[in-house]
Amino acid sequence: MDIRPDVLAAIGETPLIRLSRLHPAGNLAAKLEHTNPGGSVKDRIALGMVERAEALGHLRPGDTIVEPTSGNTGVGLAMVAAIKGYRLIAVMADKQSKEKQDLLRAYGAEVVVCPTDVDPDDPASYYSVAEDLASRPGHYRPDQYANPANPGAHELATGPEIWRQTDGQVGALVIGVGTGGTITGTARALKARNPAVHVVGVDPVGSIYTAAGPGGVHTYLTEGVGEDFWPDAFDPSVVDAYEQVSDAEAFAMTRRVVREEGVLAGVSGGMALVGALRVAARRPDDLVVTVLPDSGRNYLSKAFDDEWLESHGMGEA
Ligand SMILES: Cc1ncc(COP(=O)(O)O)c(C=O)c1O
Repeated sequence: MDIRPDVLAAIGETPLIRLSRLHPAGNLAAKLEHTNPGGSVKDRIALGMVERAEALGHLRPGDTIVEPTSGNTGVGLAMVAAIKGYRLIAVMADKQSKEKQDLLRAYGAEVVVCPTDVDPDDPASYYSVAEDLASRPGHYRPDQYANPANPGAHELATGPEIWRQTDGQVGALVIGVGTGGTITGTARALKARNPAVHVVGVDPVGSIYTAAGPGGVHTYLTEGVGEDFWPDAFDPSVVDAYEQVSDAEAFAMTRRVVREEGVLAGVSGGMALVGALRVAARRPDDLVVTVLPDSGRNYLSKAFDDEWLESHGMGEA
């Protein structure tokens, strides 16, 4: 029999798929993180952060977990909380899709929605609200932006999986940067095995990581990636180069990859793919691996809604 003891034992070991319709040269592969049981790459770090907190005595049975999240980390934490008997309060910015909020409530989490267009230091911002909640007794905030178990989960699992799945042939790693946990941990694991692996961070236009470009830091529509501050979870020294991708490019690629490859990725995955295609074209001798963090199902009312795209100036996507 092959029966896992619980849903948490189904996290990780996600498939790596060659995208040869999108990129006929054949040197591009994508890791499908939406096949995790909670539907995204964040299942990995949710489990890692909770296990670390338990080991350090920060979480006791019946405690409440509080996390400011764009949704996927909340779902991962909600799944872990359900199995391990914790309560979860997810604090979200109002630019996040309604589907993401509904999904968290389905798992039994409480959702607190905060305005997007305020400074992170503003008491109304989702960072500040989460901090206030987390300071209460019996409440614990994993803080994916600073928790070493965020990059740690990827160093322990995502990176080694890619190494094994490519038989050590991976030449370039192209990953969208949000908290920076995925790129930091995965790159560390791969560079430890082969220091020549070329690591490329993909950043939405308007995010701080590539804000030296035209326009500086401003809001954008691609969810889950980019920041307006530098998180501690991100070690920028792992990054050899950046690719900057516009909302229009990210949304157009999200729509293209499902039609051409049958892969329903989220918009941050579309963004990562735009960067990965550029790298794969520039480096034909490298096997390029990218990570698609979640599913396009989270964005049906945005990326796959023609009226929504039109009203946001992306009607041609
Ligand atoms: C949809 C989505 N894509 C990409 C990322 C970025 O991953 P990381 O935070 O590991 O940099 C996140 C995380 O916030 C996300 O929710």
